[in-house]
Formats: sequence, C-alpha cells, structure tokens
Amino acid sequence: MSTAFTSGRLGSLELKNRILKAATFEGKSPNGVPGEKLTAFHRRLAEGGVAMTTIAYCASEADGRLHDRTMYIHEEIVPQLRALVTEVQAAGARVSGQLVHCGNFSKNRKLQRIKRPLGPSRQLNMLGIPSGMPFAGEMGHDDIDHLVTTFADAATTMKRIGFDAIEMHFGHGYALSQFISRRTNRRTDEYGGSFENRMRVPLRALEAVRKAVGDDFPVLGKISMSDGVKGGVSWEEGVQVASLLDRGGIDAIVTSGGTSSFNPMLMFRGESIAHGMIEQEKNPIARLGLRLMGPKLFRDYPYEELYFLDAAKRIREAVQCSVVYIGGCCTLESVNQVMREGFDFIQLGRPLIKDPDFVRSMMQDPAYKNGCTHCNRCVGLIDDPDGIRCPLNDVN
Ligand SMILES: Cc1cc2nc3c(=O)[nH]c(=O)nc-3n(C[C@H](O)[C@H](O)[C@H](O)COP(=O)(O)O)c2cc1C
Repeated sequence: MSTAFTSGRLGSLELKNRILKAATFEGKSPNGVPGEKLTAFHRRLAEGGVAMTTIAYCASEADGRLHDRTMYIHEEIVPQLRALVTEVQAAGARVSGQLVHCGNFSKNRKLQRIKRPLGPSRQLNMLGIPSGMPFAGEMGHDDIDHLVTTFADAATTMKRIGFDAIEMHFGHGYALSQFISRRTNRRTDEYGGSFENRMRVPLRALEAVRKAVGDDFPVLGKISMSDGVKGGVSWEEGVQVASLLDRGGIDAIVTSGGTSSFNPMLMFRGESIAHGMIEQEKNPIARLGLRLMGPKLFRDYPYEELYFLDAAKRIREAVQCSVVYIGGCCTLESVNQVMREGFDFIQLGRPLIKDPDFVRSMMQDPAYKNGCTHCNRCVGLIDDPDGIRCPLNDVN
C-alpha cells in the first residue's frame, strides 16, 4: 500500500493518512455566514477519505476580507462554524481553518475600522478599482499591532470553536506576504528594507498565534516559494521564508507560489483563469479591466504534473518541520513520488473539487484517473451564487 495512506503526525495531531484538502475559497458562505452548502462540501470531502480538510479564507477581522461575502472570525458566526466543524469531524476528517488577512488587496466596501485598505506601503489596489477603492494606504505602527492582534484573537476563537489546526497564510500576495515582498513593502522603518525587517510582521503574527493556541496546537503556514514577479519574493528568498517560519515554531510549511494580485497563474498552471472570471464578473468596469489586463496578469504557464516539486524539495532540505507539498498532484504515481521525496503530507485542491472521492478511489484502484483537466473554470465560480464546483461534473 502507498505510504500516503498510512497515518502521520502534524505536530501533536495524528492524521489518518497524508492527503489533505487544500484551501480553495468555496464561495459558499452567503453574507459571510457559513451554512449548509459549505458544510456539505467539506462533509463530502471527509466521506471521500481526506485526512484533513481546510476551510478557506477565514479572515482574521472584518477589514481583512477580500469582499463582504468572505467569512471573518467573530462571535456571531461561532455557532455555525462549530456546527460545520463538528459535522465534518463526525464524517471522518480533521478540520483546519485558513487564517488570512487581505491587507492592501481588497474590494470590500464595508470597511469598519479603516477608510481604505491598508498594506505595508501605499499602492494601487487593482482589485478595488471597480468598487471605487483604487488606492491602499500605508499601515502605521498601531495598524501593524492591530493586524497581529487580529491573528491572535481569531486563532483563539478558532481553537475554541474546535478546529483541529490553523493554516496561516504567508503567501499569495495577502497581508503577511505583502510585508515579505519588496514589491509591496517599501517601508524605511524596522518593518521594511532588509529581509529580516520584512519578515518581522509575519514572525510577530506567528508568535502571537502560537502564544494564543499553545505549543500543542498544529499551526501550518502556506507560503509563496516565489511571487513570480519582478521585485517580489524570489525562489531563493522563499527558502529563507520557510527557514525563518520553521525557527519561529511553525509545525508545517505548505509550499505554494505566485500571488493573487500580480501572478496568479504561477499557482495554478493550465488554462487561464481569466476566461471564467470574465464570464462571472457582473461589474462592467471590472470585466473590461480583466479583458485589458488579462494577458499581462494571467501569464501562460502550461500545466505539468508536480509543477512545484523541484522548488519544494529545496524547502524540504532547508527545514526541520513538516512539509506539505501542493501543486498539480493528480495521479497515485505523483502521490507516491511526493512521498518518496520525503514530504510529510500532500494538499490537493482541484483534484478534490473534481472528485471528492479521489483518495478512496486511489486506495481501491491504483490506476484510477482523476479527470481534472486544469481548465481552471472552478476558479471563476468563486463568485457564482452556488460557489465552486467542477463544471466537467455538471456536463457528465
Ligand atoms: C477554486 C479555487 C480557489 C482557491 N482558493 C484559495 C484560497 O482561498 N486560499 C489559498 O491559499 N489557495 C487557494 N487556491 C489555491 C489552491 O489552494 C492550490 O494552491 C492550487 O489550486 C494548486 O493546487 P492543485 O493543483 O492541487 O489544485 C484556490 C484554488 C482553486 C482552484
């Protein structure tokens, strides 16, 4: 039997196998409230055999949301989240929550504490242009302290709700990675300039979360091994990011890449996500923007199995903590290869959107074909009233 189907330890947590569902923003929490659609999605994954699923995009505060339909961790949704977590656990999987803040990249018009999105430095907020929020401001020291506190407070609440683990987002162009990247961090104080300075806010957030949940609670960190953009995090810096998080007490690194703001296709590969996004976008200005920006923003990266493997191996060599491989793992052969390379776990996104029974099916039939074509149409459905699904399954 493949070692991927044997149990493994993530910090103090025993997981029944090595296959985890990656965070894929589901678009199934109307008005930011998790309900039956989101529960059904994750229950189905649990029934299909994943050891742990990840509830995507749990914003650390209201102003950390990409838009006002994203969940943020606060008291009013505790009962719904607890019901979701309990039900998915009862179906056989552990539940992780992805803890994230959007920083300067937001189209959320319902800001509460601030007047416009804030990041490390002033800049254009491309996502916010159609919502009339074209600029992001610079965080003051109070804002940075506040950001760190939101991570700690949300983590405390998530642990109380009953989540089995927390995945902090240090990548994909969100707030913590905005500090790491020179492209978005042009500060001249102790939070900008040198790599050590740019890592100060992410490490403070990790320290605060660790203090909030204690040493025994599993904390994963999803990173961008490279932003894939001029002036952003380079592949060499990505290894250093992982090393510092490892030394900072993270239990596992999830080895992703790219940024939602500047180069999302590095993360996905395959067909451009622009087609689906243009189809779904209701705002005509945003649709025009997507058409004009499309070729520059959505670069061409043909799909290859295990497209992050070589880069992730460098992270594997550099850290002591667990390493979770992510990116283009669609066959049992690939799963076995990742295990042979010494990774502890594998996260799957699109293969499990295509087929929530993928783990069970691979266990029963080594020749099982997943069927994901990396058309990436699922990404465009984030804004669909029913949220994400595989359009290929609609047809069949
Ligand atoms: C529909 C969709 C939504 C996604 N949303 C998120 C998200 O909320 N947070 C995140 O870190 N990554 C997100 N991703 C990226 C995935 O977690 C993963 O990094 C990527 O799909 C590559 O893995 P795969 O080849 O197994 O799909 C999303 C991917 C898809 C397809």
